Amino acid sequence: MTLTLRYMRLADISQVVAIDQVTFVPPWSARSYAYEIAESTYSHMVVLEQTEDQPQTKSFFRWFFSPPRTASAQIVGYGGLWLISDEAHISTIATHPDFRRRGWGELLLAGMVQKAVLLNAAYVVLEVRVSNGAAQALYHKYGFVTVDVKKGYYHNNGEDAYDMRLDLRDEAVCARLDTLFARLRTRNIYEDVFTSSIRTRS
Ligand SMILES: CC(C)(COP(=O)(O)OP(=O)(O)OC[C@H]1O[C@@H](n2cnc3c(N)ncnc32)[C@H](O)[C@@H]1OP(=O)(O)O)[C@@H](O)C(=O)NCCC(=O)NCCS
Repeated sequence: MTLTLRYMRLADISQVVAIDQVTFVPPWSARSYAYEIAESTYSHMVVLEQTEDQPQTKSFFRWFFSPPRTASAQIVGYGGLWLISDEAHISTIATHPDFRRRGWGELLLAGMVQKAVLLNAAYVVLEVRVSNGAAQALYHKYGFVTVDVKKGYYHNNGEDAYDMRLDLRDEAVCARLDTLFARLRTRNIYEDVFTSSIRTRS
C-alpha cells in the first residue's frame, strides 16, 4: 500500500464529495470543489490517496490465469487551504470514516501547515464546531490556540465556532512543528508531492 499527498484534481471530485456528504452538514457541492481546483487563485486543495500494491506474479501459469491488475487508488482524505496575503485559512479537512485514527488526518493537516510556511504565511486560521472534540484535539496537537468564539457560526443548527489560530512567526510554535513533522516522517511511509509542488489546474 502506498500513500500519496498530492494536489486535488477535477477527476477526484466524485470521491471527495462522497466523503464530504457523509461528514459535513451541509456538504460542499461538486461545483464548489471544481471552483476551488480550477478557478480560485487563493486555493490549495489536497488529497491523501491510497494505492494498493499489485500482487506479485510468480510464474507464467499464474500470470496467464490471473494477469496483473491495474493498481486501484482511493482518496482517503482531503483538505483545503486558502492563502490570502499573509493569512492561510484551512477551509476544510476530513478523512474517510473507514480510515480515521490512523494518523492520516494529521498528515493532511501537517501538509497544509507546511504549505502555509512555504508560501510565507504569518499565521494559519480555521473555524471548528465547539462540539467537535476530535478535530480540536488535532489542532491543539499542532499548537493552534482559540482566539475567539463566533456565535451561531453554523447555519444548520446555530452552533458556535471556535476561531483558532497558529502563529507561524512564533519561534516556539515553529520548533514544535519541526518536531511534529520529523515524527510524522518516521511514523508514516508516504510520498508528499503536495507541499513543495506548484499548484496545477487540472
Ligand atoms: C478530524 C479528523 C480529520 C481527524 O482525522 P483522523 O485521521 O481520524 O486523525 P488522526 O488519526 O490523524 O489523529 C491525529 C490527532 O488528532 C486527534 N484525534 C483524532 N481523532 C480523535 C478522536 N476521535 N478523539 C480525540 N482525539 C482525536 C488526536 O490528537 C490525534 O493524535 P494522536 O493519534 O497522537 O492521539 C477526522 O476525525 C474527521 O474527518 N472528522 C470529520 C470532519 C471534521 O470534523 N473536520 C474538521 C472540521 S473543522
